[in-house]
Amino acid sequence: MKGNSQKTILVTGGAGYIGSHMCVELLQTGHQVVVLDDLSNSNPKSLQAVERITQKTLTFVEGDIRDTRILTNLFETHNFSAVLHFAGLKAVGESVEHPVQYYDVNVNGTLKLVDAMAAAACKTLVFSSSATVYGIPEQMPISECSPTAAINPYGRSKLMVEEVLRDLYASDPTWRISLLRYFNPVGAHASGEIGEDPHDVPNNLMPFISQVAVGRRDQLNVFGDDYGTPDGTGVRDYIHVVDLAKGHLKALQHLADTPKLAIHNLGTGNGYSVMDAINAFERASGRKIPYQVVERRAGDAATSYADPRKANQELGWQAEYDLERMCADAWRWQSNYPNGFRD
Ligand code: NAD
Ligand code: UFG
Repeated sequence: MKGNSQKTILVTGGAGYIGSHMCVELLQTGHQVVVLDDLSNSNPKSLQAVERITQKTLTFVEGDIRDTRILTNLFETHNFSAVLHFAGLKAVGESVEHPVQYYDVNVNGTLKLVDAMAAAACKTLVFSSSATVYGIPEQMPISECSPTAAINPYGRSKLMVEEVLRDLYASDPTWRISLLRYFNPVGAHASGEIGEDPHDVPNNLMPFISQVAVGRRDQLNVFGDDYGTPDGTGVRDYIHVVDLAKGHLKALQHLADTPKLAIHNLGTGNGYSVMDAINAFERASGRKIPYQVVERRAGDAATSYADPRKANQELGWQAEYDLERMCADAWRWQSNYPNGFRD
């Protein structure tokens, strides 16, 4: 039998870093939540922690978004008002080594998902896109009309999905689709009970710094200090993962008004360098972060930060937390659970 609630949301990839924070915000705003995740890059303990934080329960289905049988069954069982689609693979280097796998999970997985949604007449979708679709941007800040130019298979998979969803909307304008281009999500829930928990060596700056601070790694490699930035290191727009999750709630409200396909950057509009991040994390943790400067990482832009005005004007959303708070919250999680969910 179908559930009665009009506010049941399907969260694909909900056990992951951003998805678990999203589940907290959804449950705390009165939604019912069903998570579909194959746990390929997450741990079910994240969902137990979500239930502890919120004192509410959610439904977890372990499975692959490419599995049509599971999708059909899910849409027959529940009356979803919307789907928040986080499930996917996200490591740039790995995408270069295994492009077919990336296109299969990220692109084919989304095709399977929207097919099942259409069959169930559930036509409200929020998709996790990325600032990576802007490639090496020429102008700062980056607005939604800046040219797109993905430069690796991961980025191309995001851009392909954006194009698929635009075509879908053009073919049937009763869809309500939000493409959210995240800048650099970092930090953790203030409880310190959920956070980023990379299975392998972290690719990204903040989880690497955090693992150095907690003693899991000896030192950070700073990828280049000869960029044309104030201190020579790369500049990024770090955004607190809770601010990011709140942006999704605003996007859902925006979609509720009228059918549309909307594109929004989710960033703070502020750029911080690698050295700024190291210094902020040292202050938050009281620990020294040893580092050495090494060669630039191939494919890195010198600077990337958002023009967040469109999200502000159209969604009524704006990031609240600053870099100090992002580091303080990341450190609370990392110091509570030095080995992440394996502790
Ligand atoms: P994550 O790896 O922590 O979460 C993704 C989740 O999807 C994981 O729980 C994983 O187990 C699940 N998953 C992967 N393949 C699946 C499949 N075939 N079927 C079902 N579940 C599957 O990553 P995240 O940082 O939370 O990212 C969430 C989304 O946001 C991704 O689509 C990512 O590309 C996008 N994004 C992330 C960042 C970032 O820096 N974290 C930036 C921009 C965009
Ligand atoms: N950096 C280091 N050392 C590290 C890791 C990173 O110096 O060990 C530097 C990078 O060179 C860059 C900055 O820290 O200047 C941020 O790097 P991240 O890897 O944390 O973030 P990116 O902006 O390079 O990429 C991330 C995701 C991409 C996504 C992009 C935009 O990894 O998937 O943000 O959303 F596309």
